[in-house]
Amino acid sequence: MNLGFLASHRGSNMQAVVAACRAGALAANPVVLICNNRSAEALARAEAQGVTAVVLNAATHPDPDMLDSAMLEILQRHGCDVIVLAGFMKKIGPRVLAAYADRIINIHPSLLPKHGGRGMYGRAVHEAVLTAGDHVTGVTVHLVNAEYDEGRILAQGEVPVRPGDTVDALAARVLAQEHAFLVGTLQRIADGRLKIG
Ligand code: GAR
Repeated sequence: MNLGFLASHRGSNMQAVVAACRAGALAANPVVLICNNRSAEALARAEAQGVTAVVLNAATHPDPDMLDSAMLEILQRHGCDVIVLAGFMKKIGPRVLAAYADRIINIHPSLLPKHGGRGMYGRAVHEAVLTAGDHVTGVTVHLVNAEYDEGRILAQGEVPVRPGDTVDALAARVLAQEHAFLVGTLQRIADGRLKIG
């Protein structure tokens, strides 16, 4: 199973998946990172782990259709079977969505459908959880469609919200779960226990 990654910022989920592949804990090959943000930490992490990284965005491709086609070309050229959104801020274009229908996976740091949708990314999600007074939050891995944080839920894991939690404390607790959870879900896909596509 060849994995392509899309990331916008830190890239720690990508790094965890690549590390699991390298360690033989996940039966998959990380083949390429496409990043929309030239200054993303994810680019340096990919380089450090020997994963080819490409920057594609509205500056490299002002026409959204051309951007969509360029992304698809790179994913296909690298033989990607499954695409992992690892903190990717942009919507996926119709060509990539059609070519990879039900083979694009996103990880989201809440129990969707709670606290998802446009603008619900990273810290904003944990702020919403604390503001709502939720006692439990978690991690969701789901298939990607044309809308933010929608698509069939593949797996969810709960994470407790503790009294006095700050956004940073909660974000760190959830992120630690995300890494293991994403690797575990991908392994279930790789060995056929979880069917996608
Ligand atoms: C992660 O917490 C991920 O769940 C979240 O962005 C963070 C990226 O961290 N994604 C979303 O909120 C998607 N709506 P990372 O770049 O270190 O993997």
